[in-house]
Amino acid sequence: MQNTAESRAVLLTGGAGYIGSHIAVELAASGRPAVIVDNLCNSSEEALRGIAEITGVEPVFYRTDARDKDAMREIVKKHNITEAIHLAGLKSVAESVSNPLEYYKVNLGTTLTLLEVLSECGGTGKVIFSSSATVYGVPDHIPVDEDAFAGTCFNPYGRTKYFNEQIIADVVAASEGRLSAVLLRYFNPIGAHPSGLIGEVPTGVPNNLMPYITQVAAGKREKLYVYGNDYETRDGTGVRDYIHVVDLARGHVKALEWLERHGEGKVEIFNLGTGRGSSVLEIVHTFERVNNIKIPYEFAPRRPGDIAEYYADPSKAERELGWRAELSLEDMCRDAWNAEKTLQSRAK
Ligand code: NAD
Ligand code: WQD
Repeated sequence: MQNTAESRAVLLTGGAGYIGSHIAVELAASGRPAVIVDNLCNSSEEALRGIAEITGVEPVFYRTDARDKDAMREIVKKHNITEAIHLAGLKSVAESVSNPLEYYKVNLGTTLTLLEVLSECGGTGKVIFSSSATVYGVPDHIPVDEDAFAGTCFNPYGRTKYFNEQIIADVVAASEGRLSAVLLRYFNPIGAHPSGLIGEVPTGVPNNLMPYITQVAAGKREKLYVYGNDYETRDGTGVRDYIHVVDLARGHVKALEWLERHGEGKVEIFNLGTGRGSSVLEIVHTFERVNNIKIPYEFAPRRPGDIAEYYADPSKAERELGWRAELSLEDMCRDAWNAEKTLQSRAK
């Protein structure tokens, strides 16, 4: 196969979503066009317009369920795909508890189809999978490195991530060196592209902290409920490792380059985090300071399933991928608010 731009196209499932749209932009910056497959069940074509405006190039897009094997086979063949970044799936922890079957069907189904199609093609295949720090459950040590015990997830969503990791490892092991994979365990991605043209656009009441804060700032919600102020942390509120989504997206490009260097038959796990923990109140106060906006908040009971504190040991990614998070908490808060305003005004 010739090393033309088209032959280097990367299949990006879930590429119209929050993280996927940022990956599409970073792929373009690295000279690899994305072929986006998304059924838009939790996103819209607005993200594709944003990607086009930022990169100057209309992304190749298929509105397709990533479980549709015939459609996926056709796309893979048409674009000579040998590399895939796989994000398509459902991500609400609460919904996964009330509708576990749907979560298992979609989150496992998309992965099974992708692996089947890449296996059938006969050549080599490289997969990067969006996993989550949620697979560590209550981590047995902090900072959490990749050797910490995984698999004690608290909810069906987390279990789909863990099962997907196992499925990918088994299929790669049986592929006689033809397939290889990187499993990226994301910590807490927040923020947005500095242009504000793509970002996180939750439907309904946001489950996660930063989109809730930006909606309070925008006047869409009256105040933030801080879940728990009696944890054993420095100020009593939960501590997480927040990572700028642009840094996270760049980690995927580095992981792809690593796969290209290290080749066939491997499965490797990398944490993508900053190595720094921030409390809920630290996030609120940084957001207020950077954007000069007051965020009214009230303490509320702990949220079931939450843990007090965890943050990454990202040193393996730094050592092996040559990647580290570079953007600050201030950047995350500024860019999240900029995207909320920009996307809101474009929606009018
Ligand atoms: P998102 O919902 O914004 O993006 C997921 C995309 O997948 C959406 O555009 C959705 O329309 C699409 N999709 C869902 N089911 C599909 C299907 N059957 N076929 C085709 N497309 C489908 O979520 P996100 O925050 O961008 O997360 C992307 C990935 O990263 C997910 O796999 C998520 O579980 C994982 N992840 C997210 C976080 C986080 O905090 N956002 C943390 C860890 C891991
Ligand atoms: C962060 C902190 C809350 C909302 C979840 C998933 C995880 C991963 C990322 C995908 C916690 C507090 C939150 C609010 C609050 N997703 N909080 N008021 O829980 O670390 O992780 O998203 O894999 O699987 O579980 O992120 O943003 O929901 O919460 O006080 O309205 O903010 O209690 O301490 P979490 P989060």
